[in-house]
Amino acid sequence: MTRKLKSGFLLIFLGLLASSAWGQTITRGPYLQQQTDHSMIVRWRTDVATDSVVRYGTSSATLNLTSSEPGSTTEHTVLLSGLSADTEYFYSVGNAAGTIAGDSSYHFGTSPVPGTPANTRIWVIGDSGTANSNARAVRDAFKSWSASEPADFMFMLGDNAYNNGTDPEYQAAVFDTYPELLRQLPVWSTLGNHDGYSADSGTQTGPYYDIFDLPTLAEAGGQASFTEAYYSFDYGNIHFVVLDSYDSDRSTSGNMLQWLEGDLAMNDKPWLVAVWHHPPYTKGSHDSDTEGRLIDMRQNALPILDAWGVDLVLTGHSHTYERSYLVDGHYGTSGTLDVGANILDIGDGSETSDGAICRPSLDAFLSGGCRLRHPGAIQNSGSGEILLRHSPPHQSCSSGQDRASAQAPGGPPAKRREAYLRRL
Ligand SMILES: [Fe+2]
Repeated sequence: MTRKLKSGFLLIFLGLLASSAWGQTITRGPYLQQQTDHSMIVRWRTDVATDSVVRYGTSSATLNLTSSEPGSTTEHTVLLSGLSADTEYFYSVGNAAGTIAGDSSYHFGTSPVPGTPANTRIWVIGDSGTANSNARAVRDAFKSWSASEPADFMFMLGDNAYNNGTDPEYQAAVFDTYPELLRQLPVWSTLGNHDGYSADSGTQTGPYYDIFDLPTLAEAGGQASFTEAYYSFDYGNIHFVVLDSYDSDRSTSGNMLQWLEGDLAMNDKPWLVAVWHHPPYTKGSHDSDTEGRLIDMRQNALPILDAWGVDLVLTGHSHTYERSYLVDGHYGTSGTLDVGANILDIGDGSETSDGAICRPSLDAFLSGGCRLRHPGAIQNSGSGEILLRHSPPHQSCSSGQDRASAQAPGGPPAKRREAYLRRL
C-alpha cells in the first residue's frame, strides 16, 4: 500500500497553451481520457488540420514510442495502448512532421492493475464552470496543496461550463482554466444541467459528448453501458459508477438503473464510489426535499447503492460544501430521518477525535455481517479533504470504536438486495 511515486509534477506558467510549430497551433489541450492500467487517450485541438502523432516513453528525454492516427483533422484523438500498469509516462503531441508541444510537464500515470490496493488521490471539483477568478483561486489552491503529492486523476461533477455548456464556454471554463492540470491528470465527468442545456443524452450529441471520451463498452472495467451518459470504471481496487441525473431515465425500470443493478452485481472491487450531479441530500442552494431530480436519485438510485454497500457518493449542483454522516436506508424527506436507524456512525470519523468507522473485513460484508464493504474507513473534512482508508482489521480502531458493527437493518446485503428488488 505504498503510494506510487510521481516524478516531475511541475508548476508552470498559467495561461492558454498555445504552441506553434510546423504551421500548426494547438488551441485546446492536450488532455487525457479513459485512464486504464494499460491505455490512455490523448486529445487536443489545432487550428490547422493534420494527422495526429503522440510520442511517448517513461523518460522525458526518451520518447521512443509512437502512436498515430493518419486522418487529417483539427480534433485529434490518439489511443495509447500496451502501456504498463502504475507507470509514469511522458509524451508530446504533434504530427508526422514533428512535435508541436511537449516537455517534462507533459506526463500522466496509468492505473494500478485492477484489484490492486493503492493509495488513490482524486481532485474533485463541482459546478466549477465559472471561468472566473474564483475558479482560478480553487485551481491555484489545489496546485499548491498537491505540489508534493499530486492527484492520480480528476473528476468534474457537472456544470463544468456556464451557462449552457457550449464549446466556447468549455474552452474558457475548462481548457483555458486548467491547461497544465489537464495535460497531467486524466479527467472523468458526469453531466450537469448546464452541460445538458446544449447536449442530449439520448442521442449522445452536443459539446459535452463531443469533448469527453467516456467508456461505453467497459473499456476501463465494469459492465458496458453502451452510452457515455452513464458508465463505470475501475481504478485499483475502487469501482466507480457514474450516473446521469439530468437527462437520462431515473426510474427503477429505466435503462440507467437497470444497468446499474447489473454493473454492481458483477463488481468484485471492495470500494464502491458513485458520482452524479444532483445531490440526494442537500439544504444548500438547492433543496432535496422538494426538487424532482434530487428526489428521484434518492428514492431510486440510493436503494440500489445502499444494497451494494456504497462507500461514498459525490455530487454537485448545490453551491456549497456539504458532507453528511454515513447515511444508510434513508429515502424520504429530511424530516423522516431516523438518526438511530439511518446514520451508521454519529461520530465525526476523525482519527484525532472520536475515531474511525471500522469494519472487521470485506468477508464480513460479503457474508452479511456488516454494512460497509471495507475493513476500515476514516473520514476527515479538514481543508475540504475526505480520506477513506483501507486498513487492516482494527489497525486504526481503539476499543469501543467499532460502532458500525451491528448487522444492517433487513439482514445481510444479499437479503437487503432481495428486499429492494421486491419493492420494484
Ligand atoms: Fe447544477
